[in-house]
Amino acid sequence: MLETEANLGLNQKMNKIGIGLVGCGTVGSGLIRNLPKANPLIGERLGVNLEIRAVAVKDPSKARETLPVPVVADWKKVIADPAVQIVVELVGGTDEAFRISEASLKAGKPLVTANKALLAERGRELLSLAQQSGNPIYFEASVAGGIPVIKVLREGLVANQLLGLHGIINGTSNYILSRMAEAGSDFQTALQQAKDLGYAETDDRLDVDGIDAAHKAAILCLLAYGFLPVFTDIPVEGIRHVSAQEVSFARQLGYVIKLLAVIRPVGSDRVEVRVAPTLLPSRHPMASVHGAFNAIGLIGNLAGPVQLTGRGAGPDATSSALLADLAEAAKNLHDKSPGPLLPKADGKIRLIGKGESVGRFYVRLEVEDRPGVLALVAGIFGAEKIGISSVLQPEGHGAGSVPLVFLLEAAAESSLHKAVALITKLPNCRAPARILRVEDLS
Ligand code: NDP
Ligand code: HSE
Repeated sequence: MLETEANLGLNQKMNKIGIGLVGCGTVGSGLIRNLPKANPLIGERLGVNLEIRAVAVKDPSKARETLPVPVVADWKKVIADPAVQIVVELVGGTDEAFRISEASLKAGKPLVTANKALLAERGRELLSLAQQSGNPIYFEASVAGGIPVIKVLREGLVANQLLGLHGIINGTSNYILSRMAEAGSDFQTALQQAKDLGYAETDDRLDVDGIDAAHKAAILCLLAYGFLPVFTDIPVEGIRHVSAQEVSFARQLGYVIKLLAVIRPVGSDRVEVRVAPTLLPSRHPMASVHGAFNAIGLIGNLAGPVQLTGRGAGPDATSSALLADLAEAAKNLHDKSPGPLLPKADGKIRLIGKGESVGRFYVRLEVEDRPGVLALVAGIFGAEKIGISSVLQPEGHGAGSVPLVFLLEAAAESSLHKAVALITKLPNCRAPARILRVEDLS
């Protein structure tokens, strides 16, 4: 039977799914702004429509863009509202956000969240609550903004064993490092720009200290290996100590510096998860991922290497992921389908121990400018069986000291630290060593 326009209108009305929004700051207002453009497409493609029916914020008296409904201060009212069928948590943090999520699941309402801190730090409790309540959690927006990597892991690569993942998964730090490398910007100016553009977390230390990237790495580890690491056990290093000098030396050696997350299996029952500023070869495709863009490399045993690139932060890219989740959640509600299977977080896998990581390193020293010092330092690396692949000793630094920059062959992190400790004790060593990771990603 042909559907008349009136019928179509009626069906769309019947298929409207009520959304309750808790939190309407940078990301929430982006979602509200983009919903009217996305709704007709979602209706056409999935036969459901989304309607914001309640919004809670912390301070309803704050001036904000026009909202489709009056705002309230009490999020419990949003969850209890019978017109709300799906709850979106966009508050951030791990305490109040957990209470909101718990209440939503207990009220029998599916949860959509962009909150990586919540998933990484309280994911076990949350997943078990979801399991008990029989309500799904959708979290595409929690990792890499507009890149649909959660769906890729859950669906596209579901038949693959993951041989490793690596990625630039914090837009703010990538923006800062790009501005430093390309425009000679200083750290603070670039950070302020990232904040103005809506890329940074409310607490921007999460971005620059690598914590946000580690939150995302934990979520990727959960999806890839069924293992959510204890968050505080993940080694994390941010970009604060990456100076313009480091960026310049890296360039002279044919590398760029990116904040890289690495998740890789070690043997059959351990995983290495870490976040650190890392030198990548300038010719690698990830080296040209600039600004707030993210990139994730996944290696499947069947698919081989897969690389995804896209906008990693900001209200529009994040809305894309939130709207995809909302569309899926609404369709599942409409079809009375249980929603996506929750990742299992109870495997026998564990993290590798401290110092067990094996990799390549960049080491910059400031040493006395006199014959024999290079040989002394090289001798200490040699005694620890660490090979040297390049050395840089620029001229004309004056004041009797000179930088010595080494690119080292693969070594255990513990050996590297032992060698560097011995080197910095030399009377010819003038400053603490700067150490960065090197990944060839070949
Ligand atoms: P904002 O700080 O801009 O917004 C937070 C919102 O939550 C505000 O509207 C605030 O109210 C509201 N809020 C705070 N406490 C409460 C409470 N107790 N009850 C009700 N509302 C409350 O954060 P963002 O929008 O930047 O981030 C939201 C989430 O999205 C975070 O988890 C973040 O990590 C994540 N995210 C951010 C991305 C980005 O590009 N910025 C990308 C992907 C994820 P009020 O407006 O009155 O202050
Ligand atoms: N602050 C985060 C970033 C937002 O810069 O990547 C996206 O998750």
